[in-house]
Amino acid sequence: MVDSNLAIGVFDSGVGGLTVVRELARALPEEPIVYLGDTARVPYGTKSSATVTRYALACASILQERGIKILVVACNTASAHGLGALRAALDIPVIGVVEPGAHAAAAATRSGRIGVIGTRGTVSSGAYPEAIQRCAAAAKVFAAPCPLFVPLAEEAWLEGPVPLAAAQNYLGPLLENGIDTLVLGCTHYPLLKETIAHVTGPAVTLVDSAEETARTVGQTLDAMGGRCTRTFLPQYRFLVSDDPDSFARVGALFLGRPLDTVEWVDF
Ligand code: DGL
Repeated sequence: MVDSNLAIGVFDSGVGGLTVVRELARALPEEPIVYLGDTARVPYGTKSSATVTRYALACASILQERGIKILVVACNTASAHGLGALRAALDIPVIGVVEPGAHAAAAATRSGRIGVIGTRGTVSSGAYPEAIQRCAAAAKVFAAPCPLFVPLAEEAWLEGPVPLAAAQNYLGPLLENGIDTLVLGCTHYPLLKETIAHVTGPAVTLVDSAEETARTVGQTLDAMGGRCTRTFLPQYRFLVSDDPDSFARVGALFLGRPLDTVEWVDF
């Protein structure tokens, strides 16, 4: 029997997964959350599938030591490569972000022409085209990696000529394919949403999987009878594998609230 007052465990390679925490906090305000940013090993997107899977298993084990009832892989790269291994290793539900993102994109498109941007690892895994075509078999998916977006987000360098030039370079060829929907297939990318939207224009719907992921987590908690029953304000804990100060500074910006304490953890 699950202890419903345990936390939701969430991890990403860095600050990006906080975009998912923000939606979880909005959708499930009564739930405690423990977040791990693997800042010592960011970026995941340039690493091999075996390495990302190993990192994902290590993050899951740190979070399990803190006591969690469900694991949210708030990282597209780790979801694309490590979801199977995580589900095989853990005896709690594991929710990734690729399926919810694909589902939201299939629901949003009118023309069936969908762009996906993500890390090199996510794009080369082919996870998004597969997941989108499971929801909409006739959809045409065009994918492109945007590797500079992750360091820009980690630096909170979100606007101005540098992010704009990167977005124009990455998105120009995708837009030539006549897409009407663009999946932000990396949890760091919603931080650059305004710059991305400036380049795509209003005719392209931007899909960020965070909202859909939070909905899936709520449904899973309901199905397992795992909703928190405590009535006082839930606790949020933040763990990182390197540089807690910089995580706290950038993280507060994105979460819209101060991160009271950020604890360094040794893998
Ligand atoms: N935010 C992650 C993702 O969704 C990882 C980015 C990275 O570490 O390269 O893929």
